[in-house]
Amino acid sequence: MDSGLRKLLVSVAVLVPTLCLGLTRNATASALCDPLQPTTCTIGELADQLGIRFGSTLEDFEITDSNYTTVLLREFTAITPENALKWYTNQPSRGQWEFGAGDAVVNFAVESGLDIRGHVPVWSQDAYTPGWVKNITDPVDLLDATVEHVTKVMTRYADRIDRWDVVNEPLLTFGTSRSASVYWTLGEDWIGNVFRLARTLDPDAELWINEFGSDWVPGKHEAFLALVTRLVENGVPIDGVGVQTHRLPGAVLDQDLFERQLRDFTALNLEVAVTELDVPVVPGDPNAFSRQAEEYRKVVAACLAVAGCTEITIWGITDSDTWLDRLGYFATPTRPLLFDDDFAEKPAYTSIRNLLAETLADRRLPETGSNPVEMIGLAIVLIAIGGSIHRRFSRRITRMIAR
Ligand code: XIL
Repeated sequence: MDSGLRKLLVSVAVLVPTLCLGLTRNATASALCDPLQPTTCTIGELADQLGIRFGSTLEDFEITDSNYTTVLLREFTAITPENALKWYTNQPSRGQWEFGAGDAVVNFAVESGLDIRGHVPVWSQDAYTPGWVKNITDPVDLLDATVEHVTKVMTRYADRIDRWDVVNEPLLTFGTSRSASVYWTLGEDWIGNVFRLARTLDPDAELWINEFGSDWVPGKHEAFLALVTRLVENGVPIDGVGVQTHRLPGAVLDQDLFERQLRDFTALNLEVAVTELDVPVVPGDPNAFSRQAEEYRKVVAACLAVAGCTEITIWGITDSDTWLDRLGYFATPTRPLLFDDDFAEKPAYTSIRNLLAETLADRRLPETGSNPVEMIGLAIVLIAIGGSIHRRFSRRITRMIAR
């Protein structure tokens, strides 16, 4: 073959696919998942292609439940240990360290390629603080115990966990003032001090603060925002804000308001995440599951609309095992999750999957057509190819035609 012709064919063979790939760079992540046919995708795959983590919870005893792990590994890209990394699990009495459950959950997640949200070194609610900690009356002793606990837990997992809910629920559960917690006896700046300690323990880890009810308890979002703003202004090393988003049975979310609340945190240059989503239904409501599907859709849509919203974690997988049925607040069964008692997908699952698929398809379209840099690049290459063809072959083609 003529060497000029060969060069030309080679350059076409290299340039055209390169350009096409560049134009549809998000289109190739999974050969099987086509967002135009949402049933070919899982929610985790779609979320991954949209650049967000989609998580669920994991307990150590669920690792041996193959129904649970099958759905977890198929549908989710991240986990939060539901109880395995809490103080009451890891140090139920002073100096009694229990890491069996934590190690099992963390190692399973690492081996399975799931991201981990380390939850939670300090949970600022007396109701969930071990008795021996609450009974410490000397603030110096309490500080020692806190530093020792955070240090032990964070250093143990530093090589496997790179995102921590360092402090959980600093505010009153159903109010706007500081939480009912012994940790507040450590002084105004105790949260800042725990974050500073966490940064020195693992300088590479993302450090998050996490709160309950800021989506619905009156005034709580403003109180939480004020607290986080103060921490940021004081130079506390904090990277992200978790809004738990445990919804109330039958409650209707104001999607725009929720989106604005998420943006309030990203405006502080912090990441934000929906960290513990569940949507209980009102038992007996004939439209329970369609209403629930719509509520889930709104939460996910709000997160997708905010550039710094990087994760949505659902607080469990199957309705048969939700913490809400054990909590005693709501009429049961609360059926708040994406999968029913038999791990079958509910309408809420479908609504989320379809929304993620539509969003992904929409985001790809503008990229394929309207990026001016890519369009100019394409034009230059086409002109160059055309010019080259013309220069090298026009005489030959004219002669062929003349013959
Ligand atoms: C809950 C667990 O789901 C329950 O199993 C446990 O008994 C109590 O804690 N906010 C949080 C989570 O930050 O850690 C809580 O998890 C739910 C509320």
